[in-house]
Amino acid sequence: MRVLSGSQPSGKLHLGNYLGALKQHIEDQAVHECFFFIANYHSLTTVQDPARLRELTRDVALDYLALGLDPSRACLFRQSDVPEVTELTWILSTVTGKGLLERATSYKDKIAKGIQPSMGLFCYPILMAADILIYLSDLVPVGKDQVQHIEMAQDMAEYFNNTYGKQVFKRPEAKLNEAPLVPGVDGLKMSKSYDNTIPLFETSKQTRKRVMSIKTDSTPVEAPKNPEACNVFALYRLVATPDETASLAARYRAGGMGYGEAKAFLAEVIDRLLTPPRERRAKLEADPGFVEDVLTAAARKARPIAQAVMHDVREACGIVTLRP
Ligand code: TRP
Repeated sequence: MRVLSGSQPSGKLHLGNYLGALKQHIEDQAVHECFFFIANYHSLTTVQDPARLRELTRDVALDYLALGLDPSRACLFRQSDVPEVTELTWILSTVTGKGLLERATSYKDKIAKGIQPSMGLFCYPILMAADILIYLSDLVPVGKDQVQHIEMAQDMAEYFNNTYGKQVFKRPEAKLNEAPLVPGVDGLKMSKSYDNTIPLFETSKQTRKRVMSIKTDSTPVEAPKNPEACNVFALYRLVATPDETASLAARYRAGGMGYGEAKAFLAEVIDRLLTPPRERRAKLEADPGFVEDVLTAAARKARPIAQAVMHDVREACGIVTLRP
């Protein structure tokens, strides 16, 4: 199966992003043919500072590579290195009704947040459909908020195929991340917009401080505690082994352990999880040539696939491709 997903650079990744999405993407590389790209054309709808866009783009690449993306197994490339997607965006826009886009909830959410309602923002789902369809992707791992966009891509594939009477595009399916609910330090869903995250790439000391700030109830140290009602435990179980989880649960129930101690255990397993990626990221940062080479090599693999599909698209709609 061909798996494809895009990430818009959105600043610092946190434990919720990793456990909810990137972890699955990286696991997929062992099982499927994977294409992951950095959606920098999409980012132009919100980032209009060139230095900042370059930096954010590089950050996504560093994050993926540090977390274990293996460039010999998965393609990690910049969206803009395959400019054919913008051509397909135009062509898809000619077979797509405006009403479809008017129903997009993410557009409404974004303008409600104060993002400029540009045509780019309005047409964002068409570019996203082009991303998916141009690689004839089978599966698109995404979070719940993106499912509507995948359904729109399915619709657009059908509009094109029906309009021109040719099965040029494949129907892509959403692969919903079985994202566990990752609580933030305040117990709500971990999210950048709630400022309750545990960032992935900070120092151990900063992480420990974050962990120590997790909200707990005021059960006294000696009293038995219910692990199922505790945010510290909820995070621990997502990071620790099943054996470690069982033994911490037993200590909760036995009493005599304070939340401070439970937090220290949590900080330890988070440290164990994140130390290798942190070290890898520091090395990669010191070697920008390597990261650039990875992105370039991946684009060289991805682009011919897109060009072949565009050849069929042009032929289907009667646009003659000149020979060079
Ligand atoms: N819209 C996606 C997000 O914000 C990013 C994205 C762009 C994407 N193109 C894609 C995701 C294609 C999957 C497939 O998360």
